Amino acid sequence: MCGIIGYVGNEDAQPVILDGLKRLEYRGYDSAGLAVLSGGTLTIRKRVGRLSSLEQTCAENPVQGSPGIGHTRWATHGEPSEVNSHPHTDTAGEIAVVHNGIIENYLELREMLEKEGFVFRSQTDTEVIPNLIALELRRDQKDFMGALSRALQRARGAYALGILWTREPGRIYAARQGSPLIIGVGEGENFIASDVPAIINRVTRVIYLNDGEMACLEADGIRLFNLKGEELKPDIQKVTIHAEAASKAGFETFMLKEIHEQPRVLHGLLSKHTSDRQDIAVDLSGLGRDYCRAINRVMIVSCGTAYYAGCYGRLLLELLLDINVEVELGSELRYRRAKLDPGTLIIAVSQSGETADTIAAVKKAKASGCRVLSICNVPGSSLVRESHAVLFTDAGPEIGVASTKAFTAQLMAFALFSLGLARLRGELSDEKLSRCLAELQKVPTHIHYVLSRKDAIRQIADKHHDGPSALYLGRRFNYPIALEGALKNKEISYQHAEGYAAGEMKHGPIALISEYLPVVCICTKTDDELYEKMMSNVREVDARHGRIIAVATDGDEAVRGLAGDIIYVPEIAEEFSPMVNVVALQLLAYYSAQARGTDIDKPRNLAKSVTVE
Ligand code: F6R
Repeated sequence: MCGIIGYVGNEDAQPVILDGLKRLEYRGYDSAGLAVLSGGTLTIRKRVGRLSSLEQTCAENPVQGSPGIGHTRWATHGEPSEVNSHPHTDTAGEIAVVHNGIIENYLELREMLEKEGFVFRSQTDTEVIPNLIALELRRDQKDFMGALSRALQRARGAYALGILWTREPGRIYAARQGSPLIIGVGEGENFIASDVPAIINRVTRVIYLNDGEMACLEADGIRLFNLKGEELKPDIQKVTIHAEAASKAGFETFMLKEIHEQPRVLHGLLSKHTSDRQDIAVDLSGLGRDYCRAINRVMIVSCGTAYYAGCYGRLLLELLLDINVEVELGSELRYRRAKLDPGTLIIAVSQSGETADTIAAVKKAKASGCRVLSICNVPGSSLVRESHAVLFTDAGPEIGVASTKAFTAQLMAFALFSLGLARLRGELSDEKLSRCLAELQKVPTHIHYVLSRKDAIRQIADKHHDGPSALYLGRRFNYPIALEGALKNKEISYQHAEGYAAGEMKHGPIALISEYLPVVCICTKTDDELYEKMMSNVREVDARHGRIIAVATDGDEAVRGLAGDIIYVPEIAEEFSPMVNVVALQLLAYYSAQARGTDIDKPRNLAKSVTVE
């Protein structure tokens, strides 16, 4: 959601900015723009739509010089249009700003600034920022940092900012409050960016800006300040991901590459957190062993796909531990009057670590004394910095907007954490642990097997992609997978899809079933009782002539007579089957989207990192 890039150095900024914006495309956007400062002259280019349109404008009419700032905008205030695209300037055209976040009190600030004679051209909240800085500069024309700090103290909301000022042509200013921003530390050049993949080809060292920090970058120097104007010592960290990790590696899309990376990612997590694959070795020291023994309640909080991972986590924690577990959406928990106390462990799940609702819920829980464990994919992210302990999913950069490998890594992280916690609390016998680990070790190979069936899955998708809607049914551990399968389908193929607990079908959705409705039934072998219940649901769909697509266990002949199409998957314990079954549904969604001709890596209206509420 909105991407920011900035460059100061000896090269022309325009190509560096365009390259950075390309790498940020995955975050989701509807327009793009850049500003280059050459001598004291500010040149701005903006285009609505894909980045290629901005690239074309820049190629026809290139701008030379440095520094520069660029932005991909995901509209919040005002429609996607050139006038609403960033960078925005103050009325005099001397200060250019790119912004990610929302200035909540922009209307009152705008009214005040208009009374001061400032003129607004866009509908955005962002435009108040350059004008507010210009107003504060009236007090002291030479102290930009002072003006910036005073301006920011008047703004309420979230921001990551990149700023150019025509009177200081060798500098970029930056600031952060609640939206992600990093500084890339180069040799004779420096960068700002929304995330590491945007500058992964240019730097090996970064500074993660904290909330309430401002920075001034020159080609050969970086200075950090807090909002009071006090200088801070930068904490420079090494980048841990490699440039190749952010490439398609020969696959037609990032999403397909990421689907195929899942066996490696899950194998890596398993090896990292098991010793000799016989015992569990999850490091819980960040939470404290005594605290872990005393936890009386777990509240899982997350959004979207990560919420479905949380639903899975709840089931597994309940299965392995004698503990109360709840799961809640970040956007709901932040406004609930839920009872939260120090005995409640919060588990926050997030690929990006920047999801505004999840972070807000975490802050609220921390204020009530809760400890926070995050299951997160991005080192240095805001969530990681808010947490007492982190279980990294180590999935590498996930560029496809629809989450795949990060999801299965979250499921594996839940499995490892639950086993580790149950072990520490003395709630898991040696025998049960060995049984669980033996099953878990099957997961990467089983996913390989599902991937090897992709041509068969493509044929099924080709048959069913054209309907207006699809229903996904699952029970217990595979209920979150039905929800996730439906979400994947809607996100990338734009076919309406709903996930339901199969037992709920007769309480409403059964009315939808007809020979036109594809119904994806996850009916892999579980304990006999649940399998039988699921098969009854399949029969109910069959009786109403629904088009059944079954995800079934290899060798299950009973399904054959009922389902028009079957995706066979290898047998594994029910509690770990979601990691395998979901891959079949990812591929089903993928090939449906391909058949429907959508932009799979960058589905319309979606943002990879949802940094605003
Ligand atoms: C779906 C998807 C989103 C995210 C959600 C939370 O494919 O990617 O639903 O799961 O926006 O994002 P994170 O995990 O970054 O907190």
